[in-house]
Amino acid sequence: MVEKPKVVLGVSGGIAAYKACELLRRLTESGHDVRVVPTEASLHFVGAATWSALSGNPVSTEVWDSVHEVPHVRIGQHADLVVVAPATADMLAKAAHGLADDLLTNTLLTARCPVLFAPAMHTEMWEHPATQENVATLRRRGAVVLEPAVGRLTGVDTGKGRFPDPVEIFETCRRVLARGVAEPDLTGRHVVISAGGTREPLDPVRYLGNRSSGKQGYALARTALARGARVTLIEANTGLPDPAGADIVRVGTAVQLREAVLKAAADADAVVMAAAVADFRPETYATGKIKKQDGQEPAPVALVRNPDILAEVAGGGTGARLRPGQVVVGFAAETDDVLANGRKKLQRKGCDLLVVNEVGERKTFGSEENEAVVLATDGAETPVPYGPKETLADVVWDLVVPRLGPESA
Ligand code: C5P
Repeated sequence: MVEKPKVVLGVSGGIAAYKACELLRRLTESGHDVRVVPTEASLHFVGAATWSALSGNPVSTEVWDSVHEVPHVRIGQHADLVVVAPATADMLAKAAHGLADDLLTNTLLTARCPVLFAPAMHTEMWEHPATQENVATLRRRGAVVLEPAVGRLTGVDTGKGRFPDPVEIFETCRRVLARGVAEPDLTGRHVVISAGGTREPLDPVRYLGNRSSGKQGYALARTALARGARVTLIEANTGLPDPAGADIVRVGTAVQLREAVLKAAADADAVVMAAAVADFRPETYATGKIKKQDGQEPAPVALVRNPDILAEVAGGGTGARLRPGQVVVGFAAETDDVLANGRKKLQRKGCDLLVVNEVGERKTFGSEENEAVVLATDGAETPVPYGPKETLADVVWDLVVPRLGPESA
C-alpha cells in the first residue's frame, strides 16, 4: 500500500482557526495523513476534540504529552509538508526567531520539508514593519508565506489580513507537496500576471468581448505562488475564485488593464500577459441603451485601436523595459500558420518568451487543458504537449527563472 503523504496542520490563535477545519477536511479526504498541532491559544477558537475527530489523529499542544515518542522532534522530522493556517503575527515572529516553546514551534524547527504559512490578522498587524521583516526572513529561508486576502476582517473592519479561501489554500498545499523539497525558485520575486478577456462597452448593457476564461492566467498565478513568488494577478472578467496569496486587481477594459499592468509592473521581476486583450474598442460609448429604430438599419459601429500593452511593456523590439532585467512573456492565440505567426509576433512585440497556441471554438478557451510551444528570443522552442494548464504554467516559470535579472535589494 502506498503511504499517505504526511501533513502537519499547525493552527495558531486567530479566529480564522474555524476555517482551517475546511482545509483539514480537504486534506484528509484527498488522502493525506494529517496531524493537527494547535497552539494553546488557538483552542479558544476551535477545541482539540474537533481537530482530533476530523483528523483521526491525537492532538496536543505541548511537548510534555507522550514524551517517550519524542513528539517535539518526530512530528516535524516525518512530515512531507507543514502548513500553518492561520498563522498569527505572534506565530510568524516565533517562527522567524526560532523560538520553541510549544509543540508547533518545535515542529517548525525540526521540519526539513516544505513549510507554508497562511497568515491572517488585522491590517495594522500585517503591515507592521516587525511582521513584514519576519515574513521576509521566513521567505528568505525558503518558506512559502501567502499574502493575506483583502476583505472583511473580524468585527466591522475590512482590509488586507483576511484568511484566504481554505479551498485555495488546499490547492496551494497540493502544489507545494508536488514540488517536494525543491526550493521555491521564485522567492523574493514579484510577478505580474494578466488573465481573462477585456470587455469593451458599447452601451450600458452591451460590450465587445472574447472567449478567454482566464484559466491559463490563474494557473500561472497558482503555480507562481507555490514557487514562492509575490503575485499580482490582474483579472479581467473571469469570475474565477481568487488564488490564495495573490494580490488581485480587477479590471474591465483594455485601457484599465493597461493602467493596472503599468502600475504593477514598475517593480516586477516578470510580467506575463496571459489575458486576451481586445485589439479594438467602440469609438463612442452610448450612455443610454442603443435602441432599434422601426424600419431603419442599425448604424455601423466605428472601432478604434486599443493600446498594445505587451509591446509597450516589452519595449516593442527596442529592448527598453520598465525595470532592468524584467522578463516579459506574451501569449499568442492563433488559428492558422501558428508557429510562423508566433515567431513574427515574438519579434514585433519584443518580449523574451511567447507562448503560442492554436485556438478555435472548442480549443483552449475555457478548457482545463492546453497545448503550446514556447518560443524564446534566442531561438529555443519548447513544445508542451496537451495537458493541464498548470503543467504549461510550470514550463513557463521553468523558462522564466533562468532569465531573471538580479533580485532587487
Ligand atoms: O497581437 P496579439 O493580440 O495576438 O498578441 C497577444 C499578446 O499580446 C497577449 O500576450 C496579449 O495579452 C497581448 N496584447 C496586449 N495588448 C493588446 C493586444 C494583445 O497586451 N492590445
